[in-house]
Amino acid sequence: MSELRPNRIDHVSIAVGDLDAAVAFFTQVIGLRLTHLETNSREGVREAMLLGASDQALAGADLASQPAVQLISPIGPSDGELGQSGVAKFLGERGDGLHHLALRVADVVKAAEAARGAGIRVFSQTPMGGTAGSQIVFLHPKDCFGVLIELVQAPKSHG
Ligand code: CO
Repeated sequence: MSELRPNRIDHVSIAVGDLDAAVAFFTQVIGLRLTHLETNSREGVREAMLLGASDQALAGADLASQPAVQLISPIGPSDGELGQSGVAKFLGERGDGLHHLALRVADVVKAAEAARGAGIRVFSQTPMGGTAGSQIVFLHPKDCFGVLIELVQAPKSHG
């Protein structure tokens, strides 16, 4: 069980139909700072990562340790190797909105094992590729008080 204990919140993810409009809103109106854009064709999504943009945050050396806001958007209704992405399905059913909570763990394989040991359903047997080379698994929302939880292990080089 102890291996599941996360180090911190990695990101909170919002599913959006129009990524460019959402990025403009969260940077220009809310005032977050865009730090990363990526297309994950296997998942069939484009995604953006945003961080706090206060002087203090920008002066702080450890931007990588800040929890992020993630925006995810389907590339197209039937794009991606998996066909219609889970995000497109989510948007079709519920529209824009909070999609998942990502928790940073030291070892995603051990954390997934610990989750299974606790009776939580884990969506994939082996970790998938997440943002910027991270390794991720998702926990079933019905076993987590209605919240889709992503466990994320940072790429080795970034700790
Ligand atoms: Co995520």
